Amino acid sequence: MKFFVAAVVSSLFAVATVTAECPEVTRFGRFNVSPTSLSSGDSVTINANFTCAKQLGYVATYTDYYIEVPTNNNGHEPSVMLARRQLAEDATTDSFTVQIPYGYYFPNASYVIALVNTYATDGTNGLPIYQVGGLSASVNITSTVS
Ligand SMILES: *[C@@H]1O[C@H](CO)[C@@H](O)[C@H](O)[C@H]1NC(C)=O
Ligand SMILES: *[C@@H]1O[C@H](CO)[C@@H](O)[C@H](O)[C@H]1NC(C)=O
Ligand SMILES: *[C@@H]1O[C@H](CO)[C@@H](O)[C@H](O)[C@H]1NC(C)=O
Repeated sequence: MKFFVAAVVSSLFAVATVTAECPEVTRFGRFNVSPTSLSSGDSVTINANFTCAKQLGYVATYTDYYIEVPTNNNGHEPSVMLARRQLAEDATTDSFTVQIPYGYYFPNASYVIALVNTYATDGTNGLPIYQVGGLSASVNITSTVS
């Protein structure tokens, strides 16, 4: 019961803290990618901000970044891992640079870089479970296969 009450309180807290500065859409974090026109081997810098995620109750236990083709995927465009980051407990931002892997990129595919936030929440037995949510930013990636 104690856990159940805690869960209710924290979800009320989450609803109560949606603000103009932290709308619902920011619940898993916010990030930007630079540059957005990329080729294999290029460096890409990602700046992520989890202030709102934290405020809305989605503190990331892990953050993973992928290159994905979420729409009109030709069936041969698996998500490619870009980075796995674990934030310090008190961190609200994360900034890093990674190299675009020498992957199989198709022409005219709509690539995005996705940020996946894995956060702990109380399960039905009061023990933590890990749920995931994410957001993405569009990028262009020079094709390496036709
Ligand atoms: C992170 O987001 C919060 C809330 O929008 C903002 O106040 C803060 O300045 C941002 N931090 C950085 C480093 O951009
Ligand atoms: C990609 O799009 C361009 C412009 O629409 C088109 O000319 C080209 O044929 C397309 N390439 C492929 C492989 O679909
Ligand atoms: C991708 O390339 C197209 C064509 O050059 C451009 O219009 C678009 O803004 C680019 N998108 C991004 C996210 O850089």
